[in-house]
Amino acid sequence: RSSDSLALYLGEEPAWFIQARFRLSLSRFHLSMAPPSSRPSPLPVANGRLVILYASQTGNAMDVAERVGREAKRGGCPDVDLLSMDSFNPSCLPGEGFVVFVVSTMGQGDPPDSMKSFWKYLLQKHLGSQWLEGLQYAVFGLGDSGYQKYNFPAKKLDQRLSDLGAKQIINKGLGDDQHPAGYEGALDPWLQPLWQSLNETNTSILPRIIDIVNPNMDILGDANVEVIYYGAPQDANISDSMGLIGRARSMSPALKFHNDGEPQYMLAFPNKESVIACWIRQGSLPRPLPSIPLVLIGPGTGCAPFRAFVEERTAQAAVEPTTPVLFFFGCRNQDSDFLYKNFWLNHAQNHGVLSAEKGGGFFVAFSRDQHQKIYVQDKIKEQSERVMNILCSNKAVIYVVGCSTKMPADVTAALEEVICQESGNSKENVSEWLKTMKKAGNFIIEAWS
Ligand SMILES: Cc1cc2nc3c(=O)[nH]c(=O)nc-3n(C[C@H](O)[C@H](O)[C@H](O)COP(=O)(O)O)c2cc1C
Repeated sequence: RSSDSLALYLGEEPAWFIQARFRLSLSRFHLSMAPPSSRPSPLPVANGRLVILYASQTGNAMDVAERVGREAKRGGCPDVDLLSMDSFNPSCLPGEGFVVFVVSTMGQGDPPDSMKSFWKYLLQKHLGSQWLEGLQYAVFGLGDSGYQKYNFPAKKLDQRLSDLGAKQIINKGLGDDQHPAGYEGALDPWLQPLWQSLNETNTSILPRIIDIVNPNMDILGDANVEVIYYGAPQDANISDSMGLIGRARSMSPALKFHNDGEPQYMLAFPNKESVIACWIRQGSLPRPLPSIPLVLIGPGTGCAPFRAFVEERTAQAAVEPTTPVLFFFGCRNQDSDFLYKNFWLNHAQNHGVLSAEKGGGFFVAFSRDQHQKIYVQDKIKEQSERVMNILCSNKAVIYVVGCSTKMPADVTAALEEVICQESGNSKENVSEWLKTMKKAGNFIIEAWS
């Protein structure tokens, strides 16, 4: 994978958490991304022009769009325009010939912020079934099949474009965080036929298609790894970026934030002069009422929103009765990445909201502190009786937050096992029950890759 992302909790504002994205470019080819405001308005349609419009919240769709752009350039496309959807005027769409859309999914099946007004425009009733007659398009969506509304924005966009008269170049591609290779598992098999179909439709778009379909690796030169800073000084260059990411994970409370022009937030590493651009957005997790008993599962940076939950419940407990909270946290080592250690330990004693006196509990899985790996799902199984007691209480809610690769599926399986064992119900019944919980918004998974 060519990128990594990191979610950090911004202590001062409990309802927010921050995502900083580190982008590692593995190729010499990189399309520059000017701020949206400095983009020229779309050109009149020219022969061989390809527009790539992306809508991304945490950067993956932008990475995909950039790759599409790089490959089109390599194939000799004379005019590639790569734009975030919110810097493209949707009324210009009928004037375009070929557009590739790359859109991700946020919240509960919602489009990213940058797609919202574009989408609203497309939904206008007066746009008839011939409005996009001259347009040929392809859609690639990014999502996570662990969510109920899997890849909804891409699916809806594909349907709407077709309803407006546009012609599909190729069936939509759907990237899935649950795939062992992440969204790239669907991207690679989608790109080759895209280029071939595009070339069959109009040969002036990709005069050197052979360079994409059968690339000559010599022209790429040596792969080099660099961190790309948006808006940071030209000379900013960090060679040990992976080390920095690792350190940032364990030191997030020490990070400083500067409000520093475009892009809005810069993240400064302690003892480093370099800064990395990042952005802040409001988390989409529903905030639980004090009367709702909670089972929180948040390994790694997944603990970020739960810190806000615990703080909030502590404040509520001072003025009204509150219900118990169980929190399962996981990290590699007790000594290296036990995020917010003192915070959790303080709340787990002296009648804190995670303390046994309050009916709560704090359980940590240190995966690498012993020979055999231990994860949050193992801790959930160890505490099966307590988990079951909470789930049996009125209106309990389960939150699972963190890495999307295997964790949500493993945690769901552990919960199933615990409930089967404690209730004596069949696996089928329990799995149905969890699905009902999900539908009712009482079993919430927020995961990222
Ligand atoms: C807060 C959050 C909510 C998400 N909600 C959904 C969802 O409802 N359906 C879905 O298919 N994927 C969902 N995803 C998965 C993302 O669409 C997926 O990780 C994608 O690669 C993100 O792309 P981006 O970085 O371009 O925004 C969600 C991810 C996050 C972080």
